[in-house]
Amino acid sequence: MQDVTDLAFMRVIAHYGAPDYFFTEFFRVHATSQPERHILRSIDENDTGRPVFAQLIGEDLGHLGRTATELLRHPVAGIDLNLGCPAPKVYKKNVGGGLLRDPARVGEILATLRAAVPGCFTVKMRIGFEDTAHFDRLLDLVNEHRVDLLSVHGRTVKEMYRSEVHYDFIARAVARARCPVLANGNITSAPRATAVLATTGAAGVMVGRHAIRNPFIFRQCREQFGGAPEIFRPTLADVRDYVERLYRATQTPELPERAHVNKMKKYLNFVGQSVDPAGAFLHDMRRTETEAGLFEVCDRHLLAEPGREFSPEPYPGVIARPNCETPDGASCSLDTITA
Ligand SMILES: Cc1cc2nc3c(=O)[nH]c(=O)nc-3n(C[C@H](O)[C@H](O)[C@H](O)COP(=O)(O)O)c2cc1C
Repeated sequence: MQDVTDLAFMRVIAHYGAPDYFFTEFFRVHATSQPERHILRSIDENDTGRPVFAQLIGEDLGHLGRTATELLRHPVAGIDLNLGCPAPKVYKKNVGGGLLRDPARVGEILATLRAAVPGCFTVKMRIGFEDTAHFDRLLDLVNEHRVDLLSVHGRTVKEMYRSEVHYDFIARAVARARCPVLANGNITSAPRATAVLATTGAAGVMVGRHAIRNPFIFRQCREQFGGAPEIFRPTLADVRDYVERLYRATQTPELPERAHVNKMKKYLNFVGQSVDPAGAFLHDMRRTETEAGLFEVCDRHLLAEPGREFSPEPYPGVIARPNCETPDGASCSLDTITA
């Protein structure tokens, strides 16, 4: 996830139980692009013990091929193509989710990347742009160009992040694609992952926002899939530990305190969905401006009853507000959340 899945975040997640694979933030590809250095760090310095795929977003064939070749010199598990980003700023350039309007172009891109990537070449896609008219054609292209793994976010681009997830389309991808399919969208918990695997027949699940909310989700999934007698149930004290670890991991000498606190709010915006049903933690957290203020709010809400369970599912009506859900969708970044 852009502005989220950097090296610091991956390390924190790995501490609580890593997923099988990570995917980087997307590398932007165009005529003058060079792989972004901070994203390269999440590959070159990846010490999580889990492989990481490098994700690309772009539409220029030559530069996509060039970038894939460059990235293959780094320790990547494979190259992943973004066919899903719904931010208008992105799709208006005909990249990310915008490409789903143009299957012919998708075919050319898949052919180019397949030729450039001798190892694992993967695709992350939504089920369409405005509607699902091209869905089957896109799946046929995935087959034609021998994509190795397909992650399907079961929404159209226009549906952004909040609509129901169309798991029936993920099941359709599983039936039609010759490669393994990962189901993505609202995998909120281990029981939810199990249910989605059962209804879609997918080979696995991809988890986005709910890993920010609950970094224990991969451990819980692993326990549940393995038939463990008990699934780990984090308490509010465990969540206080997560907040502290995330704060320290994302702290750099160049980052001013106020900016760091604002950065934390983008994560805590999700965490707050499971702290209390009234959203009181979220309300107070969004008003903090200093490290001391932020941790005072954390202590008040997370350590008053430290043994209380962190809700496995988000409380209904407690809404995270990433700005990628705003109508203008100016960017996928959560950086502007302050209150
Ligand atoms: C802040 C944010 C950044 C994202 N960045 C990316 C990205 O760079 N590449 C990508 O394929 N998907 C990105 N996504 C989409 C997620 O990977 C995922 O498909 C979507 O949020 C639905 O899954 P979830 O319900 O598990 O979050 C992003 C989502 C969010 C909320």
